[in-house]
Amino acid sequence: MKVGLVGVGRIGALHAETLRDLPEVETLFLADADVARARDTADKLGISSSGSVAELLASRPDGIVIAAATTAHAELVHLAADAGVAVFCEKPLASDVAGTREVIAHVAAAGVPLQMGFQRRFDPGYQAARARLQAGELGWLHSVWACTLDPAPPHASYIPTSGGLFRDCSVHDIDAIRWVTGREVAEVRATGANKGADFFAAAGDVDTAHALLTLDDGTLAALAATRYNGAGYDVRLELHGSRRTFVVGLDDRAPLASAEAGVTWPTEPSYANFAERFRSAYAAELRAFVDVMAGRTPSPCSGEDALEALYVAEACELSRRESRTVRIEEVRR
Ligand SMILES: NC(=O)c1ccc[n+]([C@@H]2O[C@H](COP(=O)([O-])OP(=O)(O)OC[C@H]3O[C@@H](n4cnc5c(N)ncnc54)[C@H](O)[C@@H]3O)[C@@H](O)[C@H]2O)c1
Repeated sequence: MKVGLVGVGRIGALHAETLRDLPEVETLFLADADVARARDTADKLGISSSGSVAELLASRPDGIVIAAATTAHAELVHLAADAGVAVFCEKPLASDVAGTREVIAHVAAAGVPLQMGFQRRFDPGYQAARARLQAGELGWLHSVWACTLDPAPPHASYIPTSGGLFRDCSVHDIDAIRWVTGREVAEVRATGANKGADFFAAAGDVDTAHALLTLDDGTLAALAATRYNGAGYDVRLELHGSRRTFVVGLDDRAPLASAEAGVTWPTEPSYANFAERFRSAYAAELRAFVDVMAGRTPSPCSGEDALEALYVAEACELSRRESRTVRIEEVRR
């Protein structure tokens, strides 16, 4: 199988390493707007083919993995769909709702499969929590708490085009809440704060944000995100039910310290970043994409899933900016 990867930055370089090691991937072509960067990454990883996006398309791959900067996704998905090849795309599909709908329609018209990079769906903890909730082990769910706490901000130039903290970070938790609970979000109330670097406020963004989500069956879910969690990379999903509680991400490396005397757990070094925490999930989602490319399975995470998560992130952003409750119907229009 021939695979093309576009974008060899933080996540793209990791995907390149994973794809290189998949037995079904016979040829891997790395492309980047910065062709020298694509070549350097290819050299470091022992991959023989690299170059521009045009060269990648000319190599007639079976599938394309898009891990370029957010602003390039819509155009790259168009190019892949026009070439008639399966597409894997890191979130988001496009920068806004109209653009996302347009990309989904274009992909549908081209008849190519599209898989979105919501890797929490491939993490064993999230999978177990979903299965145990569905099996009724928790009783009925009264509360869901989800957090994505980054240890340090990305480079300053990433922020103005990131879409903001809800669309960039919390969107993963929003997708996880939809996928794990099987419910849709009905309304949100969000707020944010800036106590870190000035470049967040300069981009109209916040470095820390919280949101309260009401699901369509009345369950309450709370989201938290920050760029400044010095203890480490902390991604958790807590499901609290009438009978039991399950927590995803509460393991030996959770970046937590108890304030209670004599409690020394967790003992292992904290996760430093998304690559350490989700390495196996990133590998699993790309193995799934191989099956999608081969036509063996439908996409496990569709463009419509990305659109649904985006509606909620949009509603959170609007709620934060206007200090009011926002119903999802308002952003669906
Ligand atoms: N799923 C996850 O957990 C996760 C984690 C990090 C990033 N992401 C997503 O992955 C994407 C990349 O993030 P990153 O942190 O790796 O960014 P990055 O800035 O480190 O790298 C982006 C790369 O894309 C290249 N690029 C930009 N425009 C391009 C174009 N038009 N054509 C080809 N290459 C282009 C840049 O030269 C750069 O090498 C973002 O959309 C981000 O939302 C997802």
